[in-house]
Amino acid sequence: MKILIIGGNGTIGKKVSKHFAKKHEVTIAGRSSGDVTVDIADRESIAAMFESVGKVDAVVCIAGEAKWASFDSMTEEDFYIGLKSKLMGQVNLVGIGLNYVHAGGSFTLTTGILADHPVDMTTSPAMVNGAIHSFVKAVSLELKNGVRINVVSSGLVEDSVTKYEDYFPGHNPIPMRKVINGYVKSVEGKDTGEIIRMYDNC
Ligand SMILES: NC(=O)c1ccc[n+]([C@@H]2O[C@H](COP(=O)([O-])OP(=O)(O)OC[C@H]3O[C@@H](n4cnc5c(N)ncnc54)[C@H](OP(=O)(O)O)[C@@H]3O)[C@@H](O)[C@H]2O)c1
Repeated sequence: MKILIIGGNGTIGKKVSKHFAKKHEVTIAGRSSGDVTVDIADRESIAAMFESVGKVDAVVCIAGEAKWASFDSMTEEDFYIGLKSKLMGQVNLVGIGLNYVHAGGSFTLTTGILADHPVDMTTSPAMVNGAIHSFVKAVSLELKNGVRINVVSSGLVEDSVTKYEDYFPGHNPIPMRKVINGYVKSVEGKDTGEIIRMYDNC
């Protein structure tokens, strides 16, 4: 399979890319590194990326930002960071990417545990993650030619514990192998419209 992984050099992305590269042809995209550059917050950049990469069998997005801050300090502009990057970035990847995915291909998006179990200072990322879950369920009903879409929602991953553990008191870190399997299930399996939750019911 030819797989395009946006964010394929990130903390989660590099482990997922390494795994898929064992038996698939992987192309990595990112803002500052990768085989091709893209900023998913910019529609024209997404279109240019697909034009450069051409047709693929699977698009995997493990990228996108949203601001973490207390609700009373968040401005409307602060919310737009997550709306433009993680939410509309991934929605536009699907909208534009539909022209570049082979029949029977797939999209795999990324959210996280905050959609179901928010922690302090996460109104924006939690809201955006929840919106992506609803988007995936709805758009899966409309995709044609056997094209599938799922979203992987992980808890705090093992490789990010040092950076984020203070935000997630009492959370069990998710082994990288388990996170990788969420993406494998979506890309190599047959499911569509699924929220693939990779965390304990905390
Ligand atoms: N780490 C966790 O524990 C965890 C758990 C659940 C969910 N998640 C979610 O998983 C995703 C990846 O997390 P991560 O920890 O792997 O993040 P990360 O280490 O910061 O990696 C993110 C990757 O995405 C790229 N990227 C960021 N913004 C982009 C944009 N606008 N356009 C294109 N590429 C972009 C980055 O490269 P450049 O900087 O070069 O663009 C980088 O390669 C995020 O959406 C995060 O919320 C993470």
